[in-house]
Amino acid sequence: MDYIRLGRGGPEVSAIGLGMWQAGGKAWGNDVRDADCRKAMERAVELGVNLVDTAEAYGEGHSEKVMSRAIKEVGRDAVFIATKVGGWHLHADDVKRACAASLKRLGVREIDLYQVHWPDPWSQVPLRETMKALEALHRAGKIRQIGVSNFAVRDLVEARTHLSRTDIASNQVRYNMLQRDVEAEVVPYCRREGITILAWSPIGKGLLSGKYHNGKRPKDRVRSDEDLFKPANIRATSPLVRALRTIGKAHGKTPAQVALAWLRRNPHVVPIPGAKRASQAEENAGAAGWSLSARELRQLDAILRRLRLDWF
Ligand SMILES: NC(=O)c1ccc[n+]([C@@H]2O[C@H](COP(=O)([O-])OP(=O)(O)OC[C@H]3O[C@@H](n4cnc5c(N)ncnc54)[C@H](OP(=O)(O)O)[C@@H]3O)[C@@H](O)[C@H]2O)c1
Repeated sequence: MDYIRLGRGGPEVSAIGLGMWQAGGKAWGNDVRDADCRKAMERAVELGVNLVDTAEAYGEGHSEKVMSRAIKEVGRDAVFIATKVGGWHLHADDVKRACAASLKRLGVREIDLYQVHWPDPWSQVPLRETMKALEALHRAGKIRQIGVSNFAVRDLVEARTHLSRTDIASNQVRYNMLQRDVEAEVVPYCRREGITILAWSPIGKGLLSGKYHNGKRPKDRVRSDEDLFKPANIRATSPLVRALRTIGKAHGKTPAQVALAWLRRNPHVVPIPGAKRASQAEENAGAAGWSLSARELRQLDAILRRLRLDWF
């Protein structure tokens, strides 16, 4: 496994993380089982993955509970625990309470990375209040690093002005070969400012693995209405999936591993693929330790430039 420093000179985290939304329950399909998700995490850690991402929102804390069982198995020190406070909990008292509840569910004394899940467009809690509350948790030794998620550059800039003793270590955003909006502003800003990007949906919720086609689309709650899986988009993506397969073969890798390696072409981007079982976690961990050549990256870029997806 390769490792990078989180944020500016922060702790070492694996170049491929593991997403645990899947462990939240059946939202990702009826084939989700607690024991399989726990084993996925245990296998990932065995392969050197330490960055594991969850949230109070995933199954109303169930994912954190599943994770706590795996932490007991692999040992606290083997895991860099990233969890999130929901966007409905951004008042100072709520942040404090949410953090205490996450610590309890996770069965640990300290969270390694505590992230704001999304900026709050509804209750309009001032960012200043939330960031000050996070810094108080940092001071109290409850959290080691402060992160955010789904923040635009304007949110990042403002949030950072409210932190006096710490800085934002990471921004977790949607980023994969098919959904690249963050490349316009967020990725360059974060690179410049030493903020690590944690890429969510890095294999396009499974689409880039090449196992879905118009005769086989996911039917679960998370993905049945997902634009990525519109018949037209699945069709449009097939030349890309073919290229991922061909390029992968040359490296002894799968399409999902190539899609993850493509994100890793930027060293400050850490994909956090979700896994439902150990075999998926193992495959995804295999996206580290090698890289795509400049020629392969150019070839993929040419295909991506021609790709037209339907988001309406
Ligand atoms: N901050 C946020 O707002 C936010 C939003 C979304 C996600 N996240 C985080 O990011 C993580 C990852 O994103 P995601 O789960 O949306 O998308 P993803 O990682 O792109 O896709 C995960 C799904 O792809 C399939 N899969 C995984 N590995 C595979 C492999 N090697 N081969 C074939 N299929 C594979 C699995 O489903 P099937 O086997 O059923 O196809 C799995 O549930 C989440 O777990 C969560 O921690 C954060």
